[in-house]
Amino acid sequence: MKGSICVINSSVRDVLTSINEEPSGVAFVIDQQERLIGVLTDGDIRRMLLNGVDLNAQIAQEDLGSYVFANQGEKLEDILKKTDKKVRIIPIIDTEGKPVDYFRYEHRVKMIPVAEPKLNGNEFKYLTDAFLSTWISSAGAYINRFESEFSEYCGAKYGVAVSNGTVAIHLALESFGIGEGDEVIVPDLTFAATINAVLHANATPVIVDVDPVSWCISPEAIEKAITPKTKAIIPVHVYGQPCDMDPIMALAEKHNLFVVEDAAEAHGAVYKGRKVGSIGHAATFSFFGNKIITTGEGGMVVTNSDQLNDRMRVLRDHGMSKQKRYWHEHIGYNYRMTNLQAAIGCAQLERIDEIIAGRAEIESKYQSVLADFSFVKWQPKIDGNKRVTWLVAALLEDGIDRDGVIQQLRDNGVDARPFFYQLSDMPIYSTYVSGNLDASKLLSRQGLNLPTIDGVDFDRVVKAFEEIKETFK
Ligand SMILES: Cc1ncc(COP(=O)(O)O)c(C=O)c1O
Repeated sequence: MKGSICVINSSVRDVLTSINEEPSGVAFVIDQQERLIGVLTDGDIRRMLLNGVDLNAQIAQEDLGSYVFANQGEKLEDILKKTDKKVRIIPIIDTEGKPVDYFRYEHRVKMIPVAEPKLNGNEFKYLTDAFLSTWISSAGAYINRFESEFSEYCGAKYGVAVSNGTVAIHLALESFGIGEGDEVIVPDLTFAATINAVLHANATPVIVDVDPVSWCISPEAIEKAITPKTKAIIPVHVYGQPCDMDPIMALAEKHNLFVVEDAAEAHGAVYKGRKVGSIGHAATFSFFGNKIITTGEGGMVVTNSDQLNDRMRVLRDHGMSKQKRYWHEHIGYNYRMTNLQAAIGCAQLERIDEIIAGRAEIESKYQSVLADFSFVKWQPKIDGNKRVTWLVAALLEDGIDRDGVIQQLRDNGVDARPFFYQLSDMPIYSTYVSGNLDASKLLSRQGLNLPTIDGVDFDRVVKAFEEIKETFK
């Protein structure tokens, strides 16, 4: 048996000595038949001493309060339900009531990640197939299949698979001929990859505010930021929410601009009956491990343009001529995806609707279980559109200490995350701002993402929330 065992009627000194030799800081008290009858912590002993109890006094039944225990063989999830901030060590007893072990919360509980890929379909089978075929680099049947199936899923003519979602944006911009002296409008609330790709293309990013309702780039802010140098807009379907694409496309048409949808977080989302990815002149996706579907690392550009498709294929592959091998007409890149990644992608795509439905279910479960947490406002749904759940996203009422909530959740083993920092807040991007950024400021300060996972872990997140509820009411 791990842990210290003391027989009832032992002296306070003996119990203290026993606890002192054991890292758990508790003693399990047994009767003469070796059955567990109580638990004493070093804090209990300290209080006894402060109350004037002598070190030589014997521990009596009255000194033992109520205690929590688990039965041998009890399921981890049931044991976890018995733990909280105060009860972190739980004795485990056998069928005769004798202590045989103990459960210690901190040692056994892993941090609940914010997202977990679901790889329980044909992923392993296709990956093995690609491996055994020996086509493990960037040629192979799965690449073509993934490109055509994913672009078809998005309602676009072509798909160009690349090594990640960041280079997907860069490849699209460069293939549109965007470069030095050109301005590209991006939202303030996004992952840095969006703006980095603009800078990698040597263009000038122009950061504008988002809409306070949808949290996506504001068409009004875009309009105000357009100058004669503007060449493109990158609407980001942030946290799975489709941007208001109609006014954005109208502005693009009026001012002759390219629109590259950054759909890294929004696979399968629908804007007024059209899938995101099929609306702009090109759209980019990420298949990073925490995305709606994953290839480990990976990305894709989808487009309906024959010309863009051709250009991207050349630039992705070192700028090499498609007619004359090893003849380079452009300074290109190696942005290729491997057949192994594409094999995983094909399997993920087979279940994409199921995966999206599962994530939506987790989000609505949060909303109903935490319904009386009035300080939590959930990500809105916009009539006529289908938002997908990337990471469950919530906004804490202004005035609530969001970072304090995150810290408390993390103390309870829950990897909650703050929303993206405003791009404009970071010194390396702060010179590119256009207009006021009030909406993104509030979102960035009060938003948090919760783990988008189910089962026991979901119950633990809810439990952690319940623990912090009192503090943040
Ligand atoms: C909005 C947005 N754009 C681009 C990316 C870049 O994708 P990747 O990490 O695959 O390069 C991400 C994700 O990480 C993202 O969230």
